[in-house]
Amino acid sequence: MANRETWATRLGFILASVGSAVGLGNIWRFPFQTATNGGAAFLLVYLVAVVVIGLPAILAEFVVGRRAEISAIGAFDKLGHPGWRAVGALGVFGGFWTLSYYSVVGGWVVRYVGASVTGGYVGNPAEYFGAISAGPEAIVLHAVFMAITVGIVAYGIEGGIEKATRLMVPSIVVILLGLAAYGATLPAATEAYDYFLSPNLGVVIDNAPSVIPAAVGQALFSLSLGFSVMITYASYIGDDQSLGVDGATIAATNTFIGVLAGLVVFPLLFAQGVSPETSGPGAVFIAVPTALADAGMLGRVIGLAFFVVVLIAALSSAISLLEVVVSYLVDTHGYERKRTAVFLGGVVFTLGLPSAWNTAWLGWFDSIAVNLLLPVSVMLLVFFVGWVMAGDAVDELRTGAADSLSDLAPVWLWALRTVVLLAVVGTVALSLFELTGAPV
Ligand code: PHE
Repeated sequence: MANRETWATRLGFILASVGSAVGLGNIWRFPFQTATNGGAAFLLVYLVAVVVIGLPAILAEFVVGRRAEISAIGAFDKLGHPGWRAVGALGVFGGFWTLSYYSVVGGWVVRYVGASVTGGYVGNPAEYFGAISAGPEAIVLHAVFMAITVGIVAYGIEGGIEKATRLMVPSIVVILLGLAAYGATLPAATEAYDYFLSPNLGVVIDNAPSVIPAAVGQALFSLSLGFSVMITYASYIGDDQSLGVDGATIAATNTFIGVLAGLVVFPLLFAQGVSPETSGPGAVFIAVPTALADAGMLGRVIGLAFFVVVLIAALSSAISLLEVVVSYLVDTHGYERKRTAVFLGGVVFTLGLPSAWNTAWLGWFDSIAVNLLLPVSVMLLVFFVGWVMAGDAVDELRTGAADSLSDLAPVWLWALRTVVLLAVVGTVALSLFELTGAPV
């Protein structure tokens, strides 16, 4: 492993991780999950989950990745616990699974960028979405999105991923801020902010069995946890970096961008009187064009900016999902990067065909990924780092950290072993009840 690649700069690593975290999860998934799970109440549980589970768990993945300096599956061998390889394998499989439908949604976005230019969706956005979101056209778009993803990953860490995300992340923030400012000028903004920002705790309490796992799943998904992405990315970091500071920066930026996306989407949704509860996976794709239809040429420009942002965000996440599998084969089996990326892209494309054919399949793939594979994988990882790696994990977290922060490492370990683990076990249990339809 003498010439293993590393990030050129610390900022490069942070931006690539933020690029992975910020994606369709924040902009496409988050609004309709919020809408179907009680609005601001969902946001509140989501925020709590980011702090209580997300941040400790992201550090757990960092610790494994950096200590092992090898991608997810091999990491467990290298740390001296080959019996835990299955956890890495589950993560890699989960990432593969997720990319298959993620890419279908990415394909819709590609189409919407084009349609913003030609005005294709003006007129009847709902019908337009119906026509392109499933069937032959969706399959072609899915292929296009996968091809772009493969192209970037083929160029590797420094040349491909780091360069691409350096440009992507700042543009996402700038464009979203502009759109949020536009949203604030709409008359419906007050009502939308109220819906999105003032939680009604009754909703959480009455619907806890479905709202809590949905919000925790969303928080973990949004931080790119569970699918070995953060393990893999951290395997390219140097020992002089403070994992705690990097993890907190990444989690805070991701959450900020998620909330910002909500501030963009909800005023647009409310502007046309769409009730957010009624909008599913098509929410953003139907509501944004509809809301902008009245704004004429300005609307077209805003629509284009919006979908370009979503495309950038989607790509920087998709490359991280593909990178996990590619780096596993490159590191552990010595395969050549470019050919591996192309081959795996083909396999993911095939796995995504059902989702591209029918949105019901897409919903099913998404729910297995976020409600099952993801929390189970995070649960096993938290257990592994908390109880199996234990002291080694604390050492690793301390490496590169300033003295004041390094004192917090044992607190983190304690939290991981107790609160975090219990919270994830609870989520897995609730998710299983939900998925199997057992009455709670
Ligand atoms: N975090 C990404 C998003 O919000 C999705 C993702 C999940 C990417 C897990 C990698 C790993 O869109």
